[in-house]
Amino acid sequence: MRKALASLLLAACACLARASTVPVDENLVALFADLHVTKDAHQPHQRAGLAQCVQDVLACHPRPANVLFYGDLAFNHGATNDYRLLKELVKPLEDAGLRWSACLGNHDRRAAYLSVFPDRKGAPPLVPERLVTVVKTPHADFILLDSCLEGPVHGRLDEAQRAWLQATLAHAEKPVFVGAHHSLSETGVAGLLASNAVCAAYIHGHQHTWKQLKEKGVETLCLPSTGHWGDIGYVLVKLSSAGAVFTLYQRDYYTPRPAATPAEAKPEWQQRVQKNNGSQWSVAFTHQKK
Ligand SMILES: [Fe+2]
Repeated sequence: MRKALASLLLAACACLARASTVPVDENLVALFADLHVTKDAHQPHQRAGLAQCVQDVLACHPRPANVLFYGDLAFNHGATNDYRLLKELVKPLEDAGLRWSACLGNHDRRAAYLSVFPDRKGAPPLVPERLVTVVKTPHADFILLDSCLEGPVHGRLDEAQRAWLQATLAHAEKPVFVGAHHSLSETGVAGLLASNAVCAAYIHGHQHTWKQLKEKGVETLCLPSTGHWGDIGYVLVKLSSAGAVFTLYQRDYYTPRPAATPAEAKPEWQQRVQKNNGSQWSVAFTHQKK
Protein backbone atom coordinates (compact mmCIF):
# COMPACT_ATOMS: atom_id res chain seq x y z
CA MET A 1 0.00 0.00 0.00
CA ARG A 2 2.79 2.36 1.00
CA LYS A 3 4.66 1.50 -2.23
CA ALA A 4 1.56 2.21 -4.31
CA LEU A 5 1.09 5.57 -2.63
CA ALA A 6 4.74 6.46 -3.18
CA SER A 7 4.58 5.63 -6.90
CA LEU A 8 1.34 7.64 -7.22
CA LEU A 9 3.07 10.58 -5.58
CA LEU A 10 6.04 10.24 -7.91
CA ALA A 11 3.73 10.14 -10.94
CA ALA A 12 1.91 13.27 -9.72
CA CYS A 13 5.23 15.07 -9.23
CA ALA A 14 6.34 14.06 -12.72
CA CYS A 15 3.07 15.43 -14.14
CA LEU A 16 3.56 18.72 -12.29
CA ALA A 17 7.13 18.99 -13.50
CA ARG A 18 6.00 18.39 -17.10
CA ALA A 19 3.20 20.97 -16.75
CA SER A 20 5.56 23.63 -15.50
CA THR A 21 7.89 23.11 -18.46
CA VAL A 22 5.20 23.91 -21.07
CA PRO A 23 6.06 27.40 -22.32
CA VAL A 24 3.45 30.16 -22.37
CA ASP A 25 3.33 32.37 -25.47
CA GLU A 26 2.20 36.00 -25.01
CA ASN A 27 1.47 36.10 -28.77
CA LEU A 28 -1.13 33.33 -28.52
CA VAL A 29 -4.69 34.10 -27.36
CA ALA A 30 -7.55 31.59 -27.07
CA LEU A 31 -11.08 32.85 -27.68
CA PHE A 32 -14.13 31.19 -26.05
CA ALA A 33 -17.76 32.32 -26.32
CA ASP A 34 -21.24 31.36 -25.14
CA LEU A 35 -20.13 29.04 -22.35
CA HIS A 36 -23.62 28.83 -20.76
CA VAL A 37 -22.44 26.65 -17.88
CA THR A 38 -24.98 25.10 -15.54
CA LYS A 39 -25.09 22.43 -12.82
CA ASP A 40 -28.43 21.18 -14.21
CA ALA A 41 -28.18 17.39 -14.50
CA HIS A 42 -30.21 17.52 -17.73
CA GLN A 43 -27.75 19.98 -19.33
CA PRO A 44 -24.35 18.29 -19.03
CA HIS A 45 -23.00 19.27 -22.46
CA GLN A 46 -22.30 22.93 -21.66
CA ARG A 47 -19.97 22.16 -18.77
CA ALA A 48 -18.43 19.20 -20.63
CA GLY A 49 -17.85 21.45 -23.65
CA LEU A 50 -16.08 24.12 -21.61
CA ALA A 51 -14.03 21.51 -19.76
CA GLN A 52 -12.93 20.06 -23.11
CA CYS A 53 -11.92 23.49 -24.46
CA VAL A 54 -9.93 24.13 -21.28
CA GLN A 55 -8.17 20.78 -21.69
CA ASP A 56 -7.48 21.52 -25.36
CA VAL A 57 -5.89 24.86 -24.47
CA LEU A 58 -3.78 23.23 -21.77
CA ALA A 59 -2.65 20.64 -24.33
CA CYS A 60 -1.25 23.41 -26.58
CA HIS A 61 2.53 23.65 -26.81
CA PRO A 62 3.22 26.49 -26.26
CA ARG A 63 0.12 27.52 -24.34
CA PRO A 64 -1.69 30.82 -24.97
CA ALA A 65 -0.96 33.38 -22.24
CA ASN A 66 -4.53 34.70 -22.37
CA VAL A 67 -7.96 33.12 -22.74
CA LEU A 68 -10.85 35.50 -23.48
CA PHE A 69 -14.55 34.69 -22.87
CA TYR A 70 -16.97 36.60 -25.11
CA GLY A 71 -20.06 36.49 -22.91
CA ASP A 72 -22.98 34.28 -21.92
CA LEU A 73 -20.89 32.69 -19.22
CA ALA A 74 -24.04 31.61 -17.33
CA PHE A 75 -26.71 29.25 -18.60
CA ASN A 76 -29.80 31.45 -18.68
CA HIS A 77 -30.34 34.15 -16.04
CA GLY A 78 -26.91 34.66 -14.51
CA ALA A 79 -27.49 32.34 -11.53
CA THR A 80 -24.78 32.60 -8.89
CA ASN A 81 -24.35 28.81 -8.97
CA ASP A 82 -23.49 29.01 -12.68
CA TYR A 83 -20.61 31.36 -11.87
CA ARG A 84 -19.50 29.08 -9.00
CA LEU A 85 -19.31 26.25 -11.54
CA LEU A 86 -17.44 28.51 -13.96
CA LYS A 87 -14.90 29.15 -11.23
CA GLU A 88 -14.31 25.40 -10.87
CA LEU A 89 -14.08 24.87 -14.63
CA VAL A 90 -11.52 27.63 -15.24
CA LYS A 91 -9.36 26.70 -12.25
CA PRO A 92 -7.10 24.44 -14.39
CA LEU A 93 -6.26 27.51 -16.53
CA GLU A 94 -5.35 29.51 -13.43
CA ASP A 95 -3.39 26.61 -11.95
CA ALA A 96 -1.34 26.49 -15.16
CA GLY A 97 -0.61 30.21 -14.92
CA LEU A 98 -2.83 31.28 -17.84
CA ARG A 99 -4.83 34.50 -17.54
CA TRP A 100 -8.53 34.67 -18.41
CA SER A 101 -10.71 37.72 -19.06
CA ALA A 102 -14.41 37.98 -19.81
CA CYS A 103 -17.18 40.22 -21.01
CA LEU A 104 -20.84 39.64 -20.17
CA GLY A 105 -23.70 38.59 -22.45
CA ASN A 106 -27.48 38.75 -22.31
CA HIS A 107 -27.63 35.62 -20.12
CA ASP A 108 -25.29 37.13 -17.51
CA ARG A 109 -25.96 39.33 -14.49
CA ARG A 110 -23.29 41.67 -13.12
CA ALA A 111 -24.06 41.38 -9.39
CA ALA A 112 -24.07 37.56 -9.42
CA TYR A 113 -20.89 37.42 -11.51
CA LEU A 114 -19.09 39.87 -9.22
CA SER A 115 -20.27 38.02 -6.11
CA VAL A 116 -18.18 35.04 -7.29
CA PHE A 117 -15.40 37.03 -9.00
CA PRO A 118 -15.13 40.27 -6.95
CA ASP A 119 -11.64 41.01 -8.29
CA ARG A 120 -13.12 41.41 -11.79
CA LYS A 121 -14.79 44.72 -10.94
CA GLY A 122 -11.71 46.78 -11.64
CA ALA A 123 -10.28 49.27 -9.18
CA PRO A 124 -11.46 51.68 -10.39
CA PRO A 125 -13.63 50.32 -13.25
CA LEU A 126 -12.64 51.65 -16.71
CA VAL A 127 -16.29 52.67 -17.21
CA PRO A 128 -18.60 53.25 -14.22
CA GLU A 129 -21.13 50.45 -13.59
CA ARG A 130 -19.85 48.41 -16.56
CA LEU A 131 -17.34 45.56 -16.87
CA VAL A 132 -14.87 46.67 -19.52
CA THR A 133 -11.45 45.05 -19.87
CA VAL A 134 -8.31 45.73 -21.91
CA VAL A 135 -6.05 42.73 -22.52
CA LYS A 136 -2.59 43.72 -23.69
CA THR A 137 -0.32 41.54 -25.84
CA PRO A 138 2.98 42.49 -27.50
CA HIS A 139 1.55 43.19 -30.98
CA ALA A 140 -2.13 44.02 -30.39
CA ASP A 141 -4.59 44.66 -27.58
CA PHE A 142 -8.07 43.23 -27.07
CA ILE A 143 -10.90 45.39 -25.71
CA LEU A 144 -13.85 43.56 -24.15
CA LEU A 145 -16.92 45.82 -23.95
CA ASP A 146 -20.03 45.35 -21.81
CA SER A 147 -23.16 45.08 -24.02
CA CYS A 148 -25.28 43.31 -21.36
CA LEU A 149 -28.68 44.89 -20.67
CA GLU A 150 -29.57 42.41 -17.87
CA GLY A 151 -32.76 41.03 -19.40
CA PRO A 152 -33.33 41.66 -23.11
CA VAL A 153 -31.76 39.30 -25.66
CA HIS A 154 -30.36 42.21 -27.64
CA GLY A 155 -27.38 44.26 -26.50
CA ARG A 156 -26.28 47.88 -26.51
CA LEU A 157 -23.47 50.14 -25.33
CA ASP A 158 -24.15 53.11 -23.10
CA GLU A 159 -22.81 56.57 -23.93
CA ALA A 160 -20.09 56.36 -21.28
CA GLN A 161 -18.61 53.25 -22.90
CA ARG A 162 -18.82 54.78 -26.34
CA ALA A 163 -16.94 57.88 -25.13
CA TRP A 164 -14.37 55.73 -23.32
CA LEU A 165 -13.83 53.63 -26.47
CA GLN A 166 -13.39 56.71 -28.64
CA ALA A 167 -10.79 58.19 -26.27
CA THR A 168 -9.01 54.84 -25.86
CA LEU A 169 -8.72 54.24 -29.60
CA ALA A 170 -7.48 57.80 -30.12
CA HIS A 171 -4.52 57.08 -27.81
CA ALA A 172 -3.86 53.47 -28.88
CA GLU A 173 -0.28 52.75 -29.87
CA LYS A 174 -0.83 49.39 -31.52
CA PRO A 175 -3.63 47.53 -33.32
CA VAL A 176 -6.75 46.83 -31.26
CA PHE A 177 -9.34 44.07 -31.56
CA VAL A 178 -12.55 45.56 -30.21
CA GLY A 179 -15.18 43.08 -29.07
CA ALA A 180 -18.28 42.35 -27.03
CA HIS A 181 -20.82 39.57 -26.67
CA HIS A 182 -23.21 41.16 -29.17
CA SER A 183 -22.66 41.82 -32.85
CA LEU A 184 -21.50 45.12 -34.30
CA SER A 185 -25.00 46.03 -35.48
CA GLU A 186 -26.18 45.81 -31.85
CA THR A 187 -23.29 47.63 -30.20
CA GLY A 188 -23.51 50.32 -32.87
CA VAL A 189 -19.85 51.30 -33.04
CA ALA A 190 -19.21 50.52 -36.73
CA GLY A 191 -18.74 54.19 -37.63
CA LEU A 192 -16.38 54.76 -34.71
CA LEU A 193 -14.29 51.68 -35.56
CA ALA A 194 -14.22 52.32 -39.31
CA SER A 195 -12.84 55.81 -38.71
CA ASN A 196 -10.03 54.50 -36.46
CA ALA A 197 -7.24 52.80 -38.43
CA VAL A 198 -5.96 51.33 -35.16
CA CYS A 199 -9.02 49.04 -34.98
CA ALA A 200 -7.97 45.73 -36.58
CA ALA A 201 -11.36 43.97 -36.37
CA TYR A 202 -14.45 43.43 -34.21
CA ILE A 203 -14.96 40.09 -32.40
CA HIS A 204 -18.21 38.84 -30.88
CA GLY A 205 -20.25 35.82 -29.74
CA HIS A 206 -24.04 35.46 -29.31
CA GLN A 207 -24.73 33.68 -32.62
CA HIS A 208 -22.72 30.51 -31.83
CA THR A 209 -21.41 30.45 -35.40
CA TRP A 210 -17.94 30.61 -36.98
CA LYS A 211 -18.55 33.48 -39.38
CA GLN A 212 -16.70 36.46 -40.85
CA LEU A 213 -18.36 39.53 -42.34
CA LYS A 214 -17.36 43.00 -43.42
CA GLU A 215 -19.93 45.32 -41.86
CA LYS A 216 -19.89 49.02 -42.76
CA GLY A 217 -16.17 48.86 -43.48
CA VAL A 218 -15.26 46.85 -40.35
CA GLU A 219 -14.00 43.24 -40.45
CA THR A 220 -15.95 41.13 -37.96
CA LEU A 221 -15.57 37.62 -36.54
CA CYS A 222 -18.31 35.63 -34.81
CA LEU A 223 -17.10 32.85 -32.50
CA PRO A 224 -18.37 29.30 -31.91
CA SER A 225 -19.88 28.26 -28.56
CA THR A 226 -17.78 26.12 -26.22
CA GLY A 227 -20.68 23.70 -25.73
CA HIS A 228 -24.24 25.11 -25.75
CA TRP A 229 -25.48 24.75 -29.37
CA GLY A 230 -24.32 25.58 -32.91
CA ASP A 231 -20.65 25.42 -33.88
CA ILE A 232 -18.84 23.90 -30.89
CA GLY A 233 -15.18 24.63 -30.16
CA TYR A 234 -12.81 27.55 -29.72
CA VAL A 235 -10.47 29.81 -31.68
CA LEU A 236 -6.73 30.26 -31.25
CA VAL A 237 -5.13 33.53 -32.39
CA LYS A 238 -1.47 33.78 -33.34
CA LEU A 239 -0.23 37.38 -33.30
CA SER A 240 2.85 38.85 -34.95
CA SER A 241 3.98 42.31 -36.03
CA ALA A 242 2.40 41.64 -39.45
CA GLY A 243 -1.04 40.62 -38.24
CA ALA A 244 -3.17 37.93 -36.64
CA VAL A 245 -4.16 34.46 -37.79
CA PHE A 246 -7.33 33.01 -36.23
CA THR A 247 -7.64 29.20 -36.35
CA LEU A 248 -10.90 27.42 -35.57
CA TYR A 249 -10.79 24.21 -33.53
CA GLN A 250 -14.30 22.85 -33.99
CA ARG A 251 -15.09 19.41 -32.61
CA ASP A 252 -18.89 19.31 -32.93
CA TYR A 253 -22.06 20.91 -34.20
CA TYR A 254 -25.55 20.37 -32.79
CA THR A 255 -28.83 22.19 -32.39
CA PRO A 256 -30.68 22.59 -30.14
CA ARG A 257 -28.64 20.01 -28.18
CA PRO A 258 -26.39 17.00 -28.87
CA ALA A 259 -27.96 13.80 -30.15
CA ALA A 260 -28.70 11.24 -27.43
CA THR A 261 -26.47 8.69 -29.19
CA PRO A 262 -23.82 9.11 -31.93
CA ALA A 263 -26.08 7.19 -34.33
CA GLU A 264 -28.78 9.86 -33.92
CA ALA A 265 -26.49 12.75 -34.88
CA LYS A 266 -27.54 14.28 -38.20
CA PRO A 267 -25.02 13.63 -41.03
CA GLU A 268 -25.01 17.33 -41.94
CA TRP A 269 -23.77 18.16 -38.44
CA GLN A 270 -20.62 16.08 -38.93
CA GLN A 271 -20.19 17.44 -42.46
CA ARG A 272 -20.22 20.97 -41.09
CA VAL A 273 -17.54 20.07 -38.53
CA GLN A 274 -15.35 18.52 -41.23
CA LYS A 275 -15.78 21.61 -43.42
CA ASN A 276 -15.11 24.12 -40.64
CA ASN A 277 -12.47 22.53 -38.43
CA GLY A 278 -9.06 24.05 -39.04
CA SER A 279 -10.46 27.05 -40.94
CA GLN A 280 -8.32 30.16 -40.71
CA TRP A 281 -9.04 33.87 -40.89
CA SER A 282 -6.26 36.43 -41.18
CA VAL A 283 -6.12 40.11 -40.34
CA ALA A 284 -3.16 42.17 -41.56
CA PHE A 285 -1.93 45.02 -39.35
CA THR A 286 -1.78 48.09 -41.56
CA HIS A 287 -1.66 50.57 -38.68
CA GLN A 288 1.83 51.91 -37.95
CA LYS A 289 2.97 52.39 -34.37
CA LYS A 290 2.87 56.01 -33.21
FE1 LIG B 1 -25.40 32.41 -26.10
